[in-house]
Amino acid sequence: MGEPLRFPEAFLWGTATASYQVEGAVSEDGRGASIWDTFTHTPGKVFHGDDGDVACDHYHRYAGDIDIMGDLGLNAYRFSVAWPRVQPEGRGAANEAGLDFYRRLVGKLHERGIEPVATLYHWDLPQALQDEGGWANRATVDRFVEYAELVAGALGGQVGMWITLNEPWVSAFVGHESGQHAPGVTDTATAVSAAHHLLLAHGRAVRALRSSLPVSSQVGVTLNLSPVHAATPTEEDAEAAERVNAYLNGWFLGPTLRGKYPELLYDRLAEMAGGDFGRPGDLEEIHAEIDFLGVNYYTVRNVASSKSGAATGRAGAALREELAATPAGRRPLPAYLEAVDVPLSGVERTTKGWAVQPDGLRELLVWLRDEYGKRPVYVTENGAAFADYVDPSGRVKDPERVEFLRNHFIMAHRAISEGVDLRGYFVWSLLDNFEWADGYSQRFGLVYVDYKSQERIPKSSAAFLSDVARSNAVCANAG
Ligand code: FCB
Repeated sequence: MGEPLRFPEAFLWGTATASYQVEGAVSEDGRGASIWDTFTHTPGKVFHGDDGDVACDHYHRYAGDIDIMGDLGLNAYRFSVAWPRVQPEGRGAANEAGLDFYRRLVGKLHERGIEPVATLYHWDLPQALQDEGGWANRATVDRFVEYAELVAGALGGQVGMWITLNEPWVSAFVGHESGQHAPGVTDTATAVSAAHHLLLAHGRAVRALRSSLPVSSQVGVTLNLSPVHAATPTEEDAEAAERVNAYLNGWFLGPTLRGKYPELLYDRLAEMAGGDFGRPGDLEEIHAEIDFLGVNYYTVRNVASSKSGAATGRAGAALREELAATPAGRRPLPAYLEAVDVPLSGVERTTKGWAVQPDGLRELLVWLRDEYGKRPVYVTENGAAFADYVDPSGRVKDPERVEFLRNHFIMAHRAISEGVDLRGYFVWSLLDNFEWADGYSQRFGLVYVDYKSQERIPKSSAAFLSDVARSNAVCANAG
């Protein structure tokens, strides 16, 4: 058995979920429709025609689910609040019945000694606001701030950590450029303006939260980030990697942490957006001081210039096509980036098609510290989908996920020893759940869900996380 690698004192070990992916109960207690209700009920948008109407029925089963976390000895839980439960039409007075669900949830978490971490927006925009333009409409920023204040007023004293937005890059670009997510728009100009309004909503909500929450509250944002590697050391591929880095990472890191969009891409995107997607003073507001950065890490991107040999080579092209054909297939990068993905060959992949790259987590955390400055960081999501099944003895054994997590935890530990201020780690996800455009085809949970009976079966990875959380340490080799 390897030497145990200890994590800092008070390190948070938990899991993450999101409202639409687990709650179900879409018409209960006055909940309004969200853009994901509309999208999932539009034929052809989601794999297998799946929807979140029932999902994991967490709305009714939350207490049992929290008992599972408590029994595992986890000390934190990241969940998201469904805006359309709180404001069914996206504006006006709070629907108290909707807030009550989160009051009960948070109360039960405290009972089990689990610290609640609330995300205000994990993609379920009230449909009524989409009908007025959604995130492409600047007025949605004001609606979001009002909503944030309502939730802070209701849960303020009970929730110590707040995340304004989950992965605004995905909301903006997957929702409005590739159109694979709700609201399913395919227009770069709309995506750029949605991105800007999401950023502004974040900045203003940070200030609003600070004035309504107790001073001890921590406020941050969660971004999806990936190291971007050049497929070859040529200058053209290195430049392509820079462009993709500005698009995937810099477009959100720059404004929030430096008050600036990345220069590399600014002119190109501003031109496509018709010039004026923001107003003077916006960037100062977006650059609100945050207490921590939430990092969602899944894999690295390996890219080449669309004109380079690495991109046109037959092997790369074949693998790219194969991956695009999976249900989770990634759309090509937008043409204006003049770059393409060159999937790594000979690496382990999850059922989602993502290459397993544990060292990418260490690289990313160290790069963030070096490039954007040292600040408290949490891994707010990391995990993997595999083809889990219940074996004849009624168990779900997922050795691939155990190895995946062990190797990523080791890399997180290495980042800490290289000086990164990492304070917690949330595995995606507690439960198998509704994986957006992939429906129920991707199982990310530490706990298996039988969607017919709603039975929960903790997988071997749940026991593994339990050991890590209880000892606050990970062993370098399988014990
Ligand atoms: C992230 C999302 C999360 C989940 C994982 C697999 O992009 O934030 O809801 O779908 O991917």
